[in-house]
Amino acid sequence: MLLAVLLLGSIFATSECYFSEENFTEESKMQLPTVVIAIIARNAAHSLPYYLGALERLNYPKDRISIWAATDHNSDNTTAVLREWLTIMQKHYHYIEWRPMDKPLSYPGELGPKHWPNGRYEYLMKLKQGALTFAKKRWADYILYADTDNILTNPETLNLMMAENKSVVAPMLDSQSAYSNFWCGITPQGYYRRTAEYFPTVHRHRQGCFPVPMVHSTMLLDLRKEGPKRLAFHPPHKDYSWPFDDIIVFAFSCRASEVQMYICNKERYGYLNVPAKPHQTVEDDRINFVHLYTESLVDGPPMYFSGYVHQELKQTDTMGFDEIYLINLRRRPERRERMMWSLYELGINAKVVDAVDGGALNSTDIKVLGVDLLPGYHDPFSGRTLTKGEVGCFLSHYYIWKEMVDMQLDKALILEDDVRFQGNFKRRLLRLMDEVEKVELDWDIIYLGRKQVKPEDEEVVENVRNLVVAGYSYWTLSYAISLQGAQKLINAEPLSKMLPVDEFLPIMYDKHPNEGHKSHFPNRNLQAYSTRPLLVQPAQYAGDPDWVSDTETSTLWDDDSVRTDWRGSQKTLKGTPQAGLNSAYRDEL
Ligand SMILES: *[C@@H]1O[C@H](CO)[C@@H](O)[C@H](O)[C@H]1NC(C)=O
Ligand SMILES: *[C@@H]1O[C@H](CO)[C@@H](O)[C@H](O)[C@H]1NC(C)=O
Ligand SMILES: *[C@@H]1O[C@H](CO)[C@@H](O)[C@H](O)[C@H]1NC(C)=O
Ligand SMILES: *[C@@H]1O[C@H](CO)[C@@H](O)[C@H](O)[C@H]1NC(C)=O
Repeated sequence: MLLAVLLLGSIFATSECYFSEENFTEESKMQLPTVVIAIIARNAAHSLPYYLGALERLNYPKDRISIWAATDHNSDNTTAVLREWLTIMQKHYHYIEWRPMDKPLSYPGELGPKHWPNGRYEYLMKLKQGALTFAKKRWADYILYADTDNILTNPETLNLMMAENKSVVAPMLDSQSAYSNFWCGITPQGYYRRTAEYFPTVHRHRQGCFPVPMVHSTMLLDLRKEGPKRLAFHPPHKDYSWPFDDIIVFAFSCRASEVQMYICNKERYGYLNVPAKPHQTVEDDRINFVHLYTESLVDGPPMYFSGYVHQELKQTDTMGFDEIYLINLRRRPERRERMMWSLYELGINAKVVDAVDGGALNSTDIKVLGVDLLPGYHDPFSGRTLTKGEVGCFLSHYYIWKEMVDMQLDKALILEDDVRFQGNFKRRLLRLMDEVEKVELDWDIIYLGRKQVKPEDEEVVENVRNLVVAGYSYWTLSYAISLQGAQKLINAEPLSKMLPVDEFLPIMYDKHPNEGHKSHFPNRNLQAYSTRPLLVQPAQYAGDPDWVSDTETSTLWDDDSVRTDWRGSQKTLKGTPQAGLNSAYRDEL
C-alpha cells in the first residue's frame, strides 16, 4: 500500500514536473503604452510626403497608435494627400479620427496664408485642445504633437522621448539655420529671450535633456502623470496676459501647472523647416523646405518620401540656360544621385556628363590627348606638379566648352557634383541672370561658387544686385559661361600648356599673380564676374570627415608611380589660405 502510494506520488510528481517545466507557457509580454499622434495640417502639400514617410517609419507598433488628424484653410492639395494616406494607413493604426474642413480657404482678416490674425491662433489652440481631449477620453498614455513641417527622421524618436519619463518633452530638431523648437529664455512678458545656453544647445556642444521654458512644434506629453492633466491649449489660463499665440499659451499653462518642459538633444531626431515670414507665401515655405531637403542630403540623415502618397511629378527647366551640365565621375554614383535629387527638388533640369576619370588615364594616354604641362608649373602649396585627377578635371570642363562652341550654345551653367546649394538658389539665380540681361552686361563667366584667394574689395557691378568683378579665385564648383567665354577659353589652346583649371581661369581674366604662367596666354581678356554672396558652397571641405578629392588624391600626370595624397591642401580648406597650415595637416597623416 505504502509502495503504491509512493509509486503514485512519484508518477504524479514526474508528470507535474513534465508539465510545469517543458510545456510551460511564458507569461505574455506587456503591450507598449498607447499613443495619440496629433496631425494638424495647413498648406503642407510640399512637406507632407516626407512628414508622413517619417511617421510610417517610427519604430513603434502602429496598433498602439491612434491618429487624430485635422486640416483646414488650405489653398493647396493638403486635404487630398492626407486623405489618401489615412485611407491606406487606417488598417495599420489602432484608430483614425479625421477632421477635414474644405471651406473657407482663409481666416477673416488674414493678409495671406502665412499671416496670423488672432482668429487663426485661437482656432489652432482649439484644434490642439481637441486632440488633447480626444486622447484623454480614450485613456491614451501619451500624445505626440508634431507639426507637418517637422520630419522625424530618427525612427527611435518616440521610444527615446518616452524613455526620458518627463511630463512634456521635445526632441530637438535641426533646421537650415539656428532656428529650433525650443527657447532657453522667456521674458516677463512672454517673448523669446536669447540666453547663453541657446547656441551651445542647438549646436550640441552640450548634450542631454534640459529644462527649458518653451518647447513647441514637436513634443510628447505623458498623460499618465498628474501634471499634464491640468494642461490646456484652450481656453488660455485665467491669469494669461502674454501674447496671444498658441505656443506661448501652452508654455504658460505648463508654468501655471508647475509642469517642466524639457528639450533633448542627445541624438539627431529630425528636422524642422524655418517657417516663411507673415508677409511671405506658401511658395516661400516650399522653397525653404527644398533647401532643408537638399541640406539633409549633404549632412544627413536624409528624409524619405512616404510610400503611400501619390507623387506628383515636379516641373523642371534649365532656368533660361541652353544647357545645365553636371560633371560627375562614373565611379562616384552617390554624388550623382544626391545632386540629381537636389536638382529635381529645386526644379532644375541638368544633363549629366561623365567626367574624364584622370585616375583611369596613364601618362601615355594623357600625352596622346595632346596634354602637356605648363612649363614651370608647380602647385603653390605642395610644390608638386599636376595630378592625373587635375588633368581629368581640366578635360571635363574643356570638353563642355568645346561642346558649347560646336553646338553654338549661347549660355550654359556648369556644376560639379560636390556642391551644396544656398537657400532659394533657383530664384536668386533667375533674378541675377534677368538683371544681367537687362543691363546688357558683356560677360564670359559668372562664378556661382569659388574661393576668393585674397579677401579684397571687388568692384561691384552697377544695377545688378549681388554681382562683383571677380578677383583671383580658386575652384570651379559652379559657373555660368557664355558662348563667347567658351570660345575664348578654347582659343587659348590650354591643353598643350595645362595647369589646374581653377588656375587657368584667373589667368584668362588676368587676375593671376604669377607673371610667368600668364606669359603663355597672351589674350587674357575673359570677363569674369562672381555672385556675392555665393550661391553654392563645397559640400565638404578638406579635413571634413566625408571629404574626398579626386584631383588631389591621385598620381602625378606624367608618372604613374608617384601617388599624391595631399589631403588638406590649402586650396580645398575652408577659409582663406594661410601659410603653414598645409604642413600641419601633412604631419597629422
Ligand atoms: C509537451 O511538450 C512535448 C515536447 O515538446 C510535446 O511532444 C507534447 O505534445 C506537449 N504536451 C502538451 C500537452 O502540450
Ligand atoms: C492631389 O493629391 C491627390 C492625392 O495624393 C492626387 O491624386 C492629385 O493628383 C493631387 N492633385 C494635384 C493638383 O496635385
Ligand atoms: C517615471 O517618473 C515617475 C514620476 O513622475 C516615477 O514615479 C517613476 O518611477 C519613473 N519611472 C521610471 C521608470 O523611472
Ligand atoms: C596606357 O593605357 C593604354 C590603354 O588605355 C595601354 O594601351 C598602354 O599600354 C598603357 N601604357 C602604359 C605605359 O602603361
